[in-house]
Amino acid sequence: MKAITTIQTTKAVGQTVIVRGWVHTIRDMGKITFIDLRDQTGLLQVVVPGDYELPRLSVEYVIEVEGEVRERGERFRNPRLATGGVEVGATRVTLLNEAAELPFEVKKDTIDINEELRLKYRYLDVRSERMASNLRLRSNITKFIRDYLHEADFTEVETPLLTKGTPEGSREFLVPSRLHAEEFYVLPQSPQQFKQLLMVGGVGRYYQIARCLRDEDQRGDRQLEFTQVDMELSFVEQEDVLALNEAMMIKLVQELFPDKHISTTPFPRLTYAEAMEKYGSDKPDLRKDKDDPNELAFCWVVDFPMFEINTESSKVDAVHHPFTAPKAEDASQLEAEPMKVRADAYDIVLNGYEIGGGSIRIHSSELQRRVFELLGLGKHEIEARFGHMLEAFRYGVPPHGGLAYGLDRLIMILANEPNIREVIAFPKTGDGRDPLTGAPSATTEAALAEAHIRTVPIKRGRSS
Ligand code: AMO
Repeated sequence: MKAITTIQTTKAVGQTVIVRGWVHTIRDMGKITFIDLRDQTGLLQVVVPGDYELPRLSVEYVIEVEGEVRERGERFRNPRLATGGVEVGATRVTLLNEAAELPFEVKKDTIDINEELRLKYRYLDVRSERMASNLRLRSNITKFIRDYLHEADFTEVETPLLTKGTPEGSREFLVPSRLHAEEFYVLPQSPQQFKQLLMVGGVGRYYQIARCLRDEDQRGDRQLEFTQVDMELSFVEQEDVLALNEAMMIKLVQELFPDKHISTTPFPRLTYAEAMEKYGSDKPDLRKDKDDPNELAFCWVVDFPMFEINTESSKVDAVHHPFTAPKAEDASQLEAEPMKVRADAYDIVLNGYEIGGGSIRIHSSELQRRVFELLGLGKHEIEARFGHMLEAFRYGVPPHGGLAYGLDRLIMILANEPNIREVIAFPKTGDGRDPLTGAPSATTEAALAEAHIRTVPIKRGRSS
């Protein structure tokens, strides 16, 4: 006999079926027992006759049920359930596995449960309806973006995780090399350099759902590892990148979030100077009604400054990253007044969050070298860190530009969640730990020796 999911029972009235899942609730009414059976598609009411000898059951036990799908009487329909119009009259209930008492209830929303506990038992947390639905939503959004970009002639390309690092303004994670003593890989803060090299390689339109790693202090909208929808296009100007992305966001909202509405289209465009002057922020929240959970206020912020002074080091930093081109009309100022030069860089902002950023890139070795110098890099350092980019730029590099979304942030806002951890299956805590696996953790002497690492004991910052 065919096993079906609980949602499929709505199309199987009159048929004898098998359904499997978890006991969400169980109520023994004497003459009959009601079981709410939960699977990945939702809940289903199972009715077991009183004379049937049920195995010992409790909540979260895993069972298989065989029985007939029946239409529920008018009075017994449950409009809150997708399967509320039907039920299964069980002829067999088989226990597949028992469950110990859970550390917290998954029947209710878990948002108010201690987060450390939720993360330690994340595999239980994702049984709850809101978390399960967030994971499905994430998958649907990713699929939409993949399909959209594929249709628009983009090629999905994977880029390395063990690499040399690319400057995006954060600390990098180092990975020791076993084969090359005292040498390290760097985990990428973004695929920036590789996507530009793919343009040199003639890929034309690249995208990737890319994992990025940044060793930075965490906040509600930041994780040590997060996901970008990363893209790069050849032979484009800023207008092309903005138009493509604006159309993609509008279609995404129309198709996946029909209840939501975008406040203003075309998306308002503000220069960085305007945004700072008018809103005191480069990520203004342009919602008309901040209490409306369905309002989406997108805007573009353009014309960022090219450089800024780092308050900690007093050195000159790139505001976006060092591969960003100056605006054509400001390029001649690069020598005389570099701090006044604006970049061909843009951010996409949604409801007060920077959900993405990008730029048109430098595609001349000389200009790229000059920008590195303005950032205070010496000849040797430029060669050691970026020699491969400068060399690649000698072999016919097309003008190019791109953008990357913080996918977690975009989903967080679309799901009306207060932080990105609610839309990530296995996130880290605010201080960068994974309570489930216990990472980060000490390792063995043997593993350290293989990686050519000697650790220096320090006073533990953590109390445990
Ligand atoms: P940028 O550094 O602006 O640009 O990153 C792009 C977007 O990624 C998201 N983001 C984060 N999300 C969660 N946790 C973090 N720690 C985190 N850091 C950034 C933000 C941000 O807008 N290579 C360039 C893109 C390009 O130029 O094409 C880049 O990485 O939503």
